[in-house]
Amino acid sequence: MARTALAIVASRKRALRTGLRRRHHGRMPSPDTPVPSPSAPASAPVGASRHYVAETRAFFASRAATWDTRFGDDMPAYAAAVVRAGIRRGGVVIDVGCGTGRALPALRQAVGPDGAVIAADLTPEMLAQARPQAAAARAALVLGDARRLPFADGSADAFFAAGLVNHLPDPQAGLAELARVTRPAGLLILFHPSGRAALAARHGRTLTQDEPLSAGPLARSTLATGWRLTVYDDAADHFFALAVRCESQRAAHLGAERYAFLAVISVLA
Ligand SMILES: C[S@@+](CC[C@H](N)C(=O)[O-])C[C@H]1O[C@@H](n2cnc3c(N)ncnc32)[C@H](O)[C@@H]1O
Repeated sequence: MARTALAIVASRKRALRTGLRRRHHGRMPSPDTPVPSPSAPASAPVGASRHYVAETRAFFASRAATWDTRFGDDMPAYAAAVVRAGIRRGGVVIDVGCGTGRALPALRQAVGPDGAVIAADLTPEMLAQARPQAAAARAALVLGDARRLPFADGSADAFFAAGLVNHLPDPQAGLAELARVTRPAGLLILFHPSGRAALAARHGRTLTQDEPLSAGPLARSTLATGWRLTVYDDAADHFFALAVRCESQRAAHLGAERYAFLAVISVLA
């Protein structure tokens, strides 16, 4: 009996591990073969989503060629963030909103030669710029939307998302999609090489407490989507948040209830 249960668990684990490959017709995509962009999520009005995709692509396409000359010096900060996250060696890691692929060398280093590195982005021009980094890091490039990724449930060990969440029209829906693809106890690393205050100043705007990456909203949206936020570090020179995929949706709900309880206590105190 126990052996049968173990066999089922083992075969489920195998199925999760190979899920990514199955979605890609038996092979992982090669580093220079972007797959077609998936369609918009069913919940989003088609017109609104098309508008968002077109605007986002136009914005980043015009910046892709000069991205690394402007921000290339930040690569050591990406490497430090990846080391800090503790991604499992031999695992599957997805850099979502990968841009020019600045995190790819560090992600390859983290998973080692037997792991898989996937770099996904919505903007073809960004992926074109990412090719050299992707080739060097043996990373597969995927043209895709973080709101509806072409990956199987529970097929990734970790997501690295640098500078992505603020660009999503519905950050909580995006976090839910990343949770769908991540295995239980897998990781979500949210990173930026500047702290939120420095970034807001660079963009000429005032920081507010209701932004998606503010401590309160991020704690709530991660819990609501099946993550447990374990590190929140908004320093002067970096933003680093780490969340762990809950074992089950029930665990996430319990976490959300505990968070709501603590929030009530802190309001009353
Ligand atoms: C601020 S840039 C950061 C790029 C890279 N992660 C870095 O740190 O250099 C944001 C990136 O996210 C991509 N992006 C925006 N919305 C996206 C979405 N819905 N799905 C996938 N990528 C998206 C953009 O094309 C852009 O390359």
